[in-house]
Amino acid sequence: MEIRDDVRHGFEKKLRKEPTCVFSDEIKIYNKMKVLVATEKPFAKVAVDGIKKIVEENGYQFALLEKYTDVNDLYKAVEDADALIVRSDKVTKEVIDHAKNLKIVVRAGAGFDNLDLEACTARKIVAMNTPGQNSNAVAELVMGLLVYTVRNFYNGKSGSELKGKKLGILAFGNVGRNVARIAKGFGMEVYAYDAFMSAEQINATGMATAVANQEALFETCDIVSLHIPATAETKQSINYALVNKMHKGGILINSARKEVINEPELLKLMAERTDLKYITDIMPDADADFKAFEGRYFATPKKMGAQTEEANINAGLAAANQIADFFKTGNKKFQVNK
Ligand code: 3PG
Repeated sequence: MEIRDDVRHGFEKKLRKEPTCVFSDEIKIYNKMKVLVATEKPFAKVAVDGIKKIVEENGYQFALLEKYTDVNDLYKAVEDADALIVRSDKVTKEVIDHAKNLKIVVRAGAGFDNLDLEACTARKIVAMNTPGQNSNAVAELVMGLLVYTVRNFYNGKSGSELKGKKLGILAFGNVGRNVARIAKGFGMEVYAYDAFMSAEQINATGMATAVANQEALFETCDIVSLHIPATAETKQSINYALVNKMHKGGILINSARKEVINEPELLKLMAERTDLKYITDIMPDADADFKAFEGRYFATPKKMGAQTEEANINAGLAAANQIADFFKTGNKKFQVNK
């Protein structure tokens, strides 16, 4: 139905104050919620197209800010956004302050340490993640990096095999379990520790043997793969004393967060123990110093774990659907700032 301009303007004024919808006897106008995808590291195009489709099919406006290098571009883009989808983009208090209409922010991914949850809660903004959606991609990257490492970064020299090696998984969530699943296919012995799971729970998965604590994991295993989130408890927790428990030739692989590593202590240890290797999908702050350990250190140039079309589609579309569901039914299932 055509809506006369004078009627439309009257309603648009009203809509600015009442952001959901307005009914009259004759006409029904849905205010167009604006869903902004703001990703410094863009999703694959196929994922962006899928998000746009969901957003528009639900009657919302779609906006996209990709590859931004200036935070002011993000401040400007969020000004009129009702919903925000991000990846590792930092949603700080400043971002929230600029986002006057924001009702929901979804981190398309697992870790939500990039969201200022306090600032969200203070503004009654619902913050969510999309757990499990990109975990296979990260797990495949971990195993790929491990093959690359034990084959001496494909430098032509004879390497070793993963079969029969002991792999320790620190935190047995979605990514950790996917790593365990693939590692078993390689014929590895898989061990796990998770501060939030009992040994019985880990063993019951049939995918790994539980060990008593993280020290035991480092003592037992040839390779330790980190899957802990960056929290007040875990930051800097991977330190000299812990990694030094690994036996000769130990490999530490990090696809979680750089913040969990005590970098000065790991550097000190690697200088003392020339048998240890550190492989990471998150460039350390001290990358230049780690580079001195030639043949024992590798960092991807940009976090690549979740950078597959499949993971982008899974996480991106889940984020868009969660937003639509939240607006339509109030569903807050994946809320992380409760
Ligand atoms: C996550 O927490 O989901 C992963 O670290 C992936 O992060 P990304 O979306 O920045 O690649």
